[in-house]
Amino acid sequence: MEIIKTIEEVKKIIGKWKSEDKTIGFIPTMGYLHEGHQSLMNAASENDKKVVSIFVNPTQFAPNEDLDKYPRDLERDIEICNEENVDLLFVPEVLEMYNDNFSTYINVENLSENLCGESRPGHFRGVCTVVNKLLNIVKPDKAYFGQKDAQQLIIIKKMVRDLNMDVDIISCPIIREEDGLAKSSRNKYLDTEERKAALILNSSLKKAFKEIQCGEKNPTVIINNIKASIKSEPLAKIDYVKIVDLDKITDIPEIKSPALVAIAVKIGKTRLIDNFIV
Ligand code: PAJ
Repeated sequence: MEIIKTIEEVKKIIGKWKSEDKTIGFIPTMGYLHEGHQSLMNAASENDKKVVSIFVNPTQFAPNEDLDKYPRDLERDIEICNEENVDLLFVPEVLEMYNDNFSTYINVENLSENLCGESRPGHFRGVCTVVNKLLNIVKPDKAYFGQKDAQQLIIIKKMVRDLNMDVDIISCPIIREEDGLAKSSRNKYLDTEERKAALILNSSLKKAFKEIQCGEKNPTVIINNIKASIKSEPLAKIDYVKIVDLDKITDIPEIKSPALVAIAVKIGKTRLIDNFIV
C-alpha cells in the first residue's frame, strides 16, 4: 500500500492507473477506522484499485465542535487499510487541502437545511467542498458512503448530479455493534455508563420501525413516541427527531412515499446520530 501526503503524488499514481484502464474505488474518511469504514472498503473490492483518504476536515466543524478532540490513530488505521487490501492511502495535512488563499465552497441548497444542517450550520458546505476536492484529486469510478450519515449521502448524490460529476456514488448499509449501537468514531468518547445509555438511539428507532410496520403513518405520533422513549434515558438529550421525505429532506404530514426517520441525540457531551428508511 502506498501512503501519500501530497495531491501531486496521488494524481501521478492515479494517472498511471487510468492509463492502464484500471477502475478505481474510493472511500473518503476522517480516520479512526472501524468496521463501518471497513464495510465500505470491502464493497470497493469490485474495482481494480482501492483508494482511502483520511482527513479530519476542518471546514465541516463549527468553532464550538470537536475538531481538536476528534479521535486519531494513524498507525492503527494503516494496519486496517493494509488488511483491507487498500492500494493507496491519502493522508494530506490541512495546508495541502486548504492553502491560505482558499475561497471556493460548494453548497447544496435546500437539502442541507433540515436535520444535521439545522443543528450544525455550515457542516454540509464543508463536507461537500472537501468531498468535491477529493473526488477531483482521486477521480474514482465509484465512491462509497455509509447510510449511517444518510443526509450526507443524499446531499453528495445531489451534488454529483447537479455538477455533472463522472462518479457513481454507492450507498452502503449501517454497520452496528452487537447490541445495536451504530459504529462511529465518536463512540470512543462514551464512558461505560454513557455507552449503555447510547443504546436508547437504536432501541427507540427499532420500536418506531415496528409501529410503522404495524400501519402507523402519522409522523407526529411516531416522533412523539421516539421522543418519549429517548427521554426515559436520563443521560440522553434530544437534538432532533424527524421524519422527512427521502429525496427532499423536508418534513412530511404522512408517510406515503420513501421516508427517512432520523435522530440526533446527545449522550453526555457526545452527539450521536442514527436513522432508518421506510
Ligand atoms: P467518517 O465519519 O469517517 O465516515 C466515513 C464514511 O464511513 C462515511 O461515508 C460514513 O457514512 C461511513 N460510516 C461511518 N460509520 C458507519 C457505519 N456504522 N456503517 C456504515 N458506514 C459508516 O463521513 C465522514 O467521515 C466525512 O464527513 C467525510 C465524508 C469523509 C468528509 O469529510
